[in-house]
Amino acid sequence: MCGIIGYTGEKYAPEILIQGLKKLEYRGYDSAGIAVSCNDDTVICKTQGKVDMLEKKLENINMRGSVCGIGHTRWATHGEPSDINSHPHSGGKNVTLVHNGIIENYIELKQMLAEKGMTPVSETDTEIAAMLIESLYDGDPVKTIFSAISQMHGSFALGIMFRDFPDTIFAVRRDSPLIIGVGENENFIASDIPAILPYTKKYYLMDENEVAVITKSQVAFTDENGRNIQKKLLTAAWDEQSAQKSGYKHFMLKEIHEQPKVVADTISAYKNKTELFEDCSFDFDITGRIYITACGSAMHAALLGKQMIEKLARIPVSVEIASEFRYNDPILDKDDIVIAISQSGETADTLAAVRLAKSKGIRTLGIVNVWGSTLAREADDVIYTYAGPEICVATTKAYLCQTVVLAMLALRLGRHKMEDSQYCAELERLSSLSDYISKALELDDICRQLASKNLKAEHQFYIGRGQDYCVCTEASLKLKEISYVHSESYAAGELKHGTISLIVDGTPVIAVMTDRSRIAKTISNIKEVASRGAAVICVTYDDIDVSDFCRDKIVIDAPGEYLAPVIANIPLQLYAYHIADGRGNDVDKPRNLAKSVTVE
Ligand code: AGP
Repeated sequence: MCGIIGYTGEKYAPEILIQGLKKLEYRGYDSAGIAVSCNDDTVICKTQGKVDMLEKKLENINMRGSVCGIGHTRWATHGEPSDINSHPHSGGKNVTLVHNGIIENYIELKQMLAEKGMTPVSETDTEIAAMLIESLYDGDPVKTIFSAISQMHGSFALGIMFRDFPDTIFAVRRDSPLIIGVGENENFIASDIPAILPYTKKYYLMDENEVAVITKSQVAFTDENGRNIQKKLLTAAWDEQSAQKSGYKHFMLKEIHEQPKVVADTISAYKNKTELFEDCSFDFDITGRIYITACGSAMHAALLGKQMIEKLARIPVSVEIASEFRYNDPILDKDDIVIAISQSGETADTLAAVRLAKSKGIRTLGIVNVWGSTLAREADDVIYTYAGPEICVATTKAYLCQTVVLAMLALRLGRHKMEDSQYCAELERLSSLSDYISKALELDDICRQLASKNLKAEHQFYIGRGQDYCVCTEASLKLKEISYVHSESYAAGELKHGTISLIVDGTPVIAVMTDRSRIAKTISNIKEVASRGAAVICVTYDDIDVSDFCRDKIVIDAPGEYLAPVIANIPLQLYAYHIADGRGNDVDKPRNLAKSVTVE
């Protein structure tokens, strides 16, 4: 996934573009570049590396007076991270563009262009798109763009400049997000809302198969028949402050500490005194199976959701990795439903899974954090998480809000199976959840100490049973993706079936125990690894004595076992954070990653 920014107005465009790219860098940071209209030409500056590198390179380039331009920060797909493969790409004399997505038929297009004597200099699919538009350009940019995209297969969000239109940006999208920011005598294009927040909260969502023509004073949307499209001007629910670090060393730490508030916001959005999801259009009368499809951490939230829904509602739930589900030709019954979970609402595999379900006539529900995202618009119903903008590539608060939405969903679906007293007790527990999360954040010091003990460990294992195993899956990913330490999560009873051979003296093993019905069994598994030298950290309640076989203990307090896994995540987020920070990593922008994977 990449970040696109564009500006046309009266200010110095390079500065606006650089600031915008810095707010989009979480979407990819292998390389960065800008192109601006300057002195009757389009001037490009781009470089491998992060936006800071680009800023340095720009010091030696004259872009004086430029008030219109496009910018890009890249997560490499076609062609290694390098100067030449960086965006923007030029198609020739007239066309310069930036792209987020994948042009799947770029090889055929490249061969067709070669027959016209056009040869790319980079390895990218994006340059082929620029050359295609250049080859078709007849002086009418909108007609040219529609002609080009009719030949392009795959996904794209494009910001395009034509040399003949120096103060105008053209934009078009298919399966990749793009918004148009509307300011005072200035307008923007961007991949995501944080990039425009310093200037405006007003924006248009771009739909597919329409071209936007953007000048400083006007935004016009045109369909392929040249008809003007009227669109609703939206106002961002977030402000600039919410997308800043606010004094924390990293966005990740800020977002971990925002969890009490955003969980409270998410709960209060759907809970009144006596009912949950009362205003939701979703039909909670489910007679078939539930399939929950997602990727990464969202899939880990789904695993916990399965435990909760099957426990309270006794509805069978199948958790499906979206990249598998979309190609499995799943056996779905008309009464089944598919729930898709996604923070960004733009993950390609998750979107494809939803489209597959809809093509089979299956009802779909999205659990999404980004308002107006593609998933929010394509699912039949949507339940939003209220986590706010999540800038750190590694999710924490959005994932936690997903687990809370699933906990509420399970309660609502299981409502008819429980006594009123039990239901009201669980609603009460939900109301106090944020306070327990705040209390868990006070474990930061012990988590920092334990992290420093294990800072050099190259292998760490997380074990748990049932709901606790679900916590381990997410805790293990969190450690891996920001600290680069190898880690595995295991159902505690499964470790001895092979992987226990990897346990040597001093291997850190984190054991999670919140389900009291399984604690005795998990303790047996802890003893198996402890007897082979593992240094065990146990995350459990105060009254559980583990002193004989655990090196360390993190004591959590929770409003009941049902919500305890939500709490158990907190110290494990902090533990992963401090190991990554202690190892000197760029915690917010880990190597090779991007915030939302909008390509397969
Ligand atoms: C989470 O820390 C990861 N960055 C990643 O696994 C993420 O959860 C996954 O890519 C799904 O993203 P989504 O929620 O935006 O669909």
